[in-house]
Amino acid sequence: MARKTTFKIRQMKSKGKKIVMLTAYDAPTAKILSDCGVDMILVGDSVGNSLLGYESTIPVTLDDIIHHCAAVSRANPKSLIIGDMPFMSYKVSEQQALENCALMLQEGGAEAVKLEGSGRVAKIVSTVVDSGIPVMGHIGLTPQSIYELGGYRVQGRTKENTEVLVKQALELQEAGAFSMVIELVPSETAKMITEAVDIPTIGIGAGPHCDGQVLVLWDMLGLFDDFNPKFLKKYANISEVIRTAVNEYSEEVRGGVFPDPEHSFEMSEEESGRLYGRVKPKKEDES
Ligand code: KIV
Repeated sequence: MARKTTFKIRQMKSKGKKIVMLTAYDAPTAKILSDCGVDMILVGDSVGNSLLGYESTIPVTLDDIIHHCAAVSRANPKSLIIGDMPFMSYKVSEQQALENCALMLQEGGAEAVKLEGSGRVAKIVSTVVDSGIPVMGHIGLTPQSIYELGGYRVQGRTKENTEVLVKQALELQEAGAFSMVIELVPSETAKMITEAVDIPTIGIGAGPHCDGQVLVLWDMLGLFDDFNPKFLKKYANISEVIRTAVNEYSEEVRGGVFPDPEHSFEMSEEESGRLYGRVKPKKEDES
């Protein structure tokens, strides 16, 4: 696969090619996703729920994302790397947004950033894009505003809400975003938004009409037995794979079966003999 750029991602919409995006937070998985031809890797603030043990994305810091993004970029994936700007790292002022987005590129190795929201955020998007940093927008359910939204609820269920979302999407397009995530909205709403804008829409819980799809990698791999939202399709049962392997290992260690000779090192016959006194020492050793 040739290296993906924001230009190529935008072209995919006009060519009618569906865009594949997944999250990754470390080098080995980033390499696998790239080898599989995934178009975009999002180093999402979902790292908070997926790997860091938080209940929401709010506690995730800029340093957290930069740390994980740098690991992803060290894998040198062909997929476009997007660094997710975490809670309050870009909303305080345009100056703050510029400085922090720059760090995401300079220290995290991201090639684009993702910002949640519209309205005031659309102005910030415009400033960041003007500075030469590509921005992906994010509308619908925006997890960083979860307390204001009153929970993880489907957005845009009424005609009025849908109109607001279409307006927000157009604002982000106008601000220069190269694409946008649409999270947790009815399929019809996502279709209207997707048809209203020229830039690609990437859906999560937003039905089949978006230009691309994103899922959180560890959710679709089935790491969490008790996280089963309607939109999530589990393509593997990785927690079961891990459990089976760990149980087998534990049994073998406790039973003295592992490590066996195949997984152990041996000395040369001579050294082993010297150690156990079965071989006469060599001349030079006799002193
Ligand atoms: O942080 C994340 O993984 C995201 C996706 C759910 C779009 O924002």
